[in-house]
Amino acid sequence: MRVIGIESSCDETAVAVYDGESGLLAHQLHSQVALHQAYGGVVPELASRDHIVRLLPLLRCALAEARSTRESIDAIAYTAGPGLIGALLVGSGFARGLAYAWGKPALAIHHLEGHLLAPLLEADPPAFPFLALLVSGGHTQLIDVAGLGRYRILGESLDDAAGEAFDKTAKLLGLDYPGGAALARLAERGRSNAWRFPRPMLDRPGLDFSFSGLKTAALVALRGRDLDDGLRADVARGFEEAVVDTLAEKCRRALRASGHRRLVVAGGVGANQRLRARLRRLGDETGARVYFPRPEFCTDNGAMIALAGCLRMQAGARPAPGPGVRAVWELADDVT
Ligand code: KG4
Ligand code: ZN
Repeated sequence: MRVIGIESSCDETAVAVYDGESGLLAHQLHSQVALHQAYGGVVPELASRDHIVRLLPLLRCALAEARSTRESIDAIAYTAGPGLIGALLVGSGFARGLAYAWGKPALAIHHLEGHLLAPLLEADPPAFPFLALLVSGGHTQLIDVAGLGRYRILGESLDDAAGEAFDKTAKLLGLDYPGGAALARLAERGRSNAWRFPRPMLDRPGLDFSFSGLKTAALVALRGRDLDDGLRADVARGFEEAVVDTLAEKCRRALRASGHRRLVVAGGVGANQRLRARLRRLGDETGARVYFPRPEFCTDNGAMIALAGCLRMQAGARPAPGPGVRAVWELADDVT
């Protein structure tokens, strides 16, 4: 079973080829970060237009890299949501047009399912069931994963997602969009505990998150002060430590409550080194095994969509009629 994966939900255009027996054969990606940077965030119309330009060359490169021809491909999987509706429609139109021309099935994939299956792209992948911490630009969720398509949300952010909080705080610190990785680099030079920000919602039971207060705390810390490098780095460090502590503590509680022995971390913030180190330590402390995708598969990519498509095909998924794109789509809703 060999599947092409197409990702175009936001500001990355990506195409990959995944083979059920040989694994990942190719993955190609074009980031639109430079395109959107001047505007301080993603401009949806520009994103859609750029996806149109990039998809075909990326497909050609991916097929060449995979040494695959049309005959060897069994299905075409594409991200159907959640995401920017125009961007999703470009990927869906492209994937479905290709599928029609080649006489192959087109499979609509949930973007977050792609993220949480991404650790299965690595050697020594986790087996089902597991607990997943999904931390991306748009979502922060703890998910009980019983098996493929069997997802139960245990907790989620009530306001900003972790990645969104990183990006907004990065902006306050004068860093370019998307600021998560840049903030993490700045935090490296900051002093631990020079600023002690709140650990939101740790004082009450439950597995939900709230991150919007943290950017306000960072704003208050910066207000009226000279924005010198030392202060910026200390605030970045304080902010990152607060997010990491909060995520780690909620994971500890979720492991305890669910009884899972495996923790899978996925989504763009999963590339954060301090979070990775902290969750590895949590694994040592609790006896749970912690799995991460490599950092480039934490952020948006086509490999995770191709993999999800392949697993879905192997499980007997059938193509859905219509373009099937959804800007808003809960993971626990009829993913099939
Ligand atoms: O999963 P993703 O690529 O896109 C969504 O589906 O949302 O996640 C992007 C998010 C952005 O908010 C970005 O700032 C954040 O992941 N991010 C990071 C790091 N790398 C990416 N946040 C913290 N530390 C990083 N190293
Ligand atoms: Zn994503």
